[in-house]
Amino acid sequence: MMIFLKICILVVTLSLAVLQLAHCKTKSNEFDFFAFKQAWPTVICFKYRSEGHKCHISRNVTGWTIHGLWPSAGSSKGPIFCNNSSKFNESAVEKLLPDLDVYWPNLHSDTVRDGFWEHEWSKHGTCAVSVKETGNEYLYFKKGLDLFQMINFTGILTDIGVIPDDNKTYDVLNILNKITPRLNGIEPRLSCYNYKEEFYLTSVLICFSKQFEMRSCTPNSTDDRLYFQFDNDCPADHKVKYPTIRYD
Ligand SMILES: *[C@@H]1O[C@H](CO)[C@@H](O)[C@H](O)[C@H]1NC(C)=O
Ligand SMILES: *[C@@H]1O[C@H](CO)[C@@H](O)[C@H](O)[C@H]1NC(C)=O
Ligand SMILES: *[C@@H]1O[C@H](CO)[C@@H](O)[C@H](O)[C@H]1NC(C)=O
Ligand SMILES: *[C@@H]1O[C@H](CO)[C@@H](O)[C@H](O)[C@H]1NC(C)=O
Ligand SMILES: *[C@@H]1O[C@H](CO)[C@@H](O)[C@H](O)[C@H]1NC(C)=O
Ligand SMILES: *[C@@H]1O[C@H](CO)[C@@H](O)[C@H](O)[C@H]1NC(C)=O
Ligand SMILES: *[C@@H]1O[C@H](CO)[C@@H](O)[C@H](O)[C@H]1NC(C)=O
Repeated sequence: MMIFLKICILVVTLSLAVLQLAHCKTKSNEFDFFAFKQAWPTVICFKYRSEGHKCHISRNVTGWTIHGLWPSAGSSKGPIFCNNSSKFNESAVEKLLPDLDVYWPNLHSDTVRDGFWEHEWSKHGTCAVSVKETGNEYLYFKKGLDLFQMINFTGILTDIGVIPDDNKTYDVLNILNKITPRLNGIEPRLSCYNYKEEFYLTSVLICFSKQFEMRSCTPNSTDDRLYFQFDNDCPADHKVKYPTIRYD
């Protein structure tokens, strides 16, 4: 009787463990929404160079650029590296290369041309394939480019009179108040970079549902967190610089 009970407990425990494992496995690649990040290349280069790297902005790059399209969810940071056997394949995005070079450029001139796309694909793209519109490498990068055309942040800022200027400072709250109505009333996240005692506008984050409807980047619950948690990193006085693009 005792042995039977022990075996029974063992079986129950084992099946629970198996269930738990199955649950974890399916859960790990799940996500709730996409976070789409655009960056201001000049400030990306300030940051990258200050970390001891080489950075170069091609003459063809004249505005904001794409950083990434990130499946976001979960009780941690959201799924990453969902399929390490799915390697980035340049041929698959050949038709997109002219646009990728300008709108999703690798500014890191001490890495290979494909390095940035390879990284974004392996880390984030492989987690997006469960959504039809981002179901393979080509579709994933195409979707990033399409969203970029749809939300032309360079154009939005120009429209509200926020023009790159090496001397002026802008008020972040004022920028947010003016751009929110242009984004279906959904407030984006702006991020700033503190460089040599000054704050610079460096990125904007806009979020989409898995049906690509724009939505707030603010998680609904603690279980619905962004892959990339934006800190409140813009300055307390809200004054930020938005420098011109420097081609060096
Ligand atoms: C800029 O774009 C043009 C047209 O796509 C291309 O021929 C040229 O090589 C590009 N220049 C650089 C520096 O990438
Ligand atoms: C996939 O690659 C990433 C980055 O190199 C690594 O952290 C992760 O453990 C790998 N996943 C598996 C299942 O091997
Ligand atoms: C991972 O990627 C490989 C290569 O593209 C593919 O054959 C495989 O089906 C993928 N695995 C999963 C679980 O999607
Ligand atoms: C890379 O993509 C090209 C074009 O879609 C395809 O013909 C080729 O089989 C792919 N290579 C690999 C290793 O998947
Ligand atoms: C974005 O808008 C700017 C200014 O309105 C324009 O010059 C540029 O071509 C647009 N970019 C894209 C990718 O549509
Ligand atoms: C910005 O200020 C510098 C000196 O601090 C000056 O040389 C430059 O002409 C100014 N640029 C603009 C666009 O006003
Ligand atoms: C978050 O809440 C909003 C409004 O209550 C709702 O429309 C949206 O579908 C929710 N998103 C998720 C991922 O649950």
